[in-house]
Amino acid sequence: MPTLLHLDSSADLNSSVSRALTARFATAWTGISTDHLVVRRDLHLDQLPHLPTDALHWAPRLRRPGDLVPADAEQLQQVLISELLNADVVLIGAPMYNWAVPSTLKAWIDYVHVGGVTSTIDEPTQPLAGKPVVVVSSRGGSYGPGDPVDHQVPSIVQALGTSMGMDVSTVTADLTLAGRLPALSGLTGRAEQERERAAQELDALAERLGRRKG
Ligand SMILES: Cc1cc2nc3c(=O)[nH]c(=O)nc-3n(C[C@H](O)[C@H](O)[C@H](O)COP(=O)(O)O)c2cc1C
Repeated sequence: MPTLLHLDSSADLNSSVSRALTARFATAWTGISTDHLVVRRDLHLDQLPHLPTDALHWAPRLRRPGDLVPADAEQLQQVLISELLNADVVLIGAPMYNWAVPSTLKAWIDYVHVGGVTSTIDEPTQPLAGKPVVVVSSRGGSYGPGDPVDHQVPSIVQALGTSMGMDVSTVTADLTLAGRLPALSGLTGRAEQERERAAQELDALAERLGRRKG
């Protein structure tokens, strides 16, 4: 059963662009066949606690003597990593909040990016290498590739892609605030085009990733 792990993190439950776009991908995914499953985790509605200790960033063998890790936090980390391991494709709704990812999404990254478990430190440990992850980034303004103030998409690509070896595809919808901020009102047409292009890209990605073999 091809399984999609669908994460959202927008704090907007009514008009979120990232939520609408991830829903579009999930609909395309389940439309491929009745075998295509979705596992949902809403990081805003079901918020994770911050890491209670830095020791959770490391495999047990790499922790310092005396490090204490609460059993419930260790169990939560294992659940979150298992969800990733069990998914065929991961979908992440990632709005830009203050030029970075929402803290709810950052908390999730802090749990799943673990030295010696999901990223290589002393021996090869990248069990998620090659697993496709689709990041849907919604941003009020406009940001080009390599924009120095974009700490959102590059930080996700660094953690999940470079460090954990996942196969990251990024789909962005910029200028989402064009309909709300008078200063951007002249850009509403471009914003609509951005959103439609993002939707088309997601349809194509869902089709490609949902039908791939192995
Ligand atoms: C807390 C907060 C911080 C934001 N910071 C930025 C920002 O730094 N840059 C930007 O372009 N837009 C910023 N925005 C606007 C959002 O990126 C934009 O509304 C986006 O569409 C949010 O995603 P969503 O529609 O999925 O909720 C911010 C919005 C909020 C609520």
